[in-house]
Amino acid sequence: MGESLNVGIVGAGNISRAYLTTLTALRDLRRSGDPLGGDPPHGPRLTAVTDLDPARAHRLAEEAGDGVAVAGSLAELLAREDVDAVLNLTVPAAHAEVTLAALDAGKHVYGEKPLAADREGADAILTRARATGLRVGCAPDTVLGSGLQTARAAVDDGLIGTPLAASAFMTCPGHESWHPDPEFYYRPGGGPLLDMGPYYLSALVHLLGPVTRVTGAASRARVERVVAGGPRAGTRFPVEIDTHVTGVLHHVGGALTTLAMSFDVHAARLPLLEVYGTTGSLSVPDPNLFEGSPALGRGGSWTPLPHAAGYRPGGRGVGLADLADALRDSRPHLASAELGAHVLDTMLTLLDAAREGRTLPVTRTTDRPPAMRDLSPPPVPAGSDA
Ligand SMILES: NC(=O)c1ccc[n+]([C@@H]2O[C@H](COP(=O)([O-])OP(=O)(O)OC[C@H]3O[C@@H](n4cnc5c(N)ncnc54)[C@H](O)[C@@H]3O)[C@@H](O)[C@H]2O)c1
Repeated sequence: MGESLNVGIVGAGNISRAYLTTLTALRDLRRSGDPLGGDPPHGPRLTAVTDLDPARAHRLAEEAGDGVAVAGSLAELLAREDVDAVLNLTVPAAHAEVTLAALDAGKHVYGEKPLAADREGADAILTRARATGLRVGCAPDTVLGSGLQTARAAVDDGLIGTPLAASAFMTCPGHESWHPDPEFYYRPGGGPLLDMGPYYLSALVHLLGPVTRVTGAASRARVERVVAGGPRAGTRFPVEIDTHVTGVLHHVGGALTTLAMSFDVHAARLPLLEVYGTTGSLSVPDPNLFEGSPALGRGGSWTPLPHAAGYRPGGRGVGLADLADALRDSRPHLASAELGAHVLDTMLTLLDAAREGRTLPVTRTTDRPPAMRDLSPPPVPAGSDA
């Protein structure tokens, strides 16, 4: 009790700042004692960082302060005794390689989504995690936030009757509009479905249970894109994946989700995530965020639902904090690799179904994850939703 899980970050790019905010807030919470009472929060503690680009690693370590070390390579970071767990924030194509190397070095792992860029990588991670007894957690952890968990409580409490259907829409013109190095979003492992789908599909598995079958259709409007801003503005790069993906998901209980994820839409007035039941509808907050109020729709009007479950506030990294607590308490962690593997298989099967023009079964399944209100969440820092 009271001990920290020492964490080494691999990948000091864009999203590492959001994690740093959460890890710093947890450190400050630890220093000030637990304001909620009970055991002092132990939480994850950042000890080291590495990146293929050493300058990035140095910048992040400097921002973190507190004696965070810079490791010259992944091997060097994995050899450190003050690293118990790796926070894998690399690009999707490197997720499996980095996670497997960390497991081989005896480290737990929490990583960004998707779990891997392909099924082989995901299967290898699950096999290695089981063989070693080490933990692997996978983003998104927004699904553990107040918005989604309150929505899940509404479904579980029967506020909309029996869920029959859902809609899930993510539309934007493409991440090259804001990301300084957007190429990875347009390579295998990227694309609107593999990039943003994990938020929506993880939420849908919490709300409606795992997916058994999928059908889909997909298109690629342009073969080339252009970096819009930052030092590399104007750089042209090829598009290797489909950029507009639509589909239907069949959930285990019979509910059907209609889905569209697109990097080809400049403006839309679509809902992000809604669930439709026999007695009412549920408007679910943005699954890319931790906060937001779900609303119950009945008789032509919508009523906001008060917070009933989940982290509040939340920030990227609460899934890692939960993994640290789960290790201490010898219970399963919530943002699991099994859920990540099911979500990845669902997305890849949808893309296969789109290519083949038929309905296909999803073979890597998972249990519906436990609801957050059934557990007592650890003290939560004021994190960043970025
Ligand atoms: N940018 C966002 O807003 C955002 C939000 C949520 C999730 N994510 C996810 O986070 C991950 C990283 O995204 P990002 O935007 O930070 O990308 P990024 O390109 O800005 O940063 C990735 C970093 O990883 C490093 N890297 C790549 N392979 C490596 C390896 N083998 N060893 C060590 N370092 C390596 C790169 O040098 C780079 O600095 C992706 O999986 C992405 O889907 C990003």
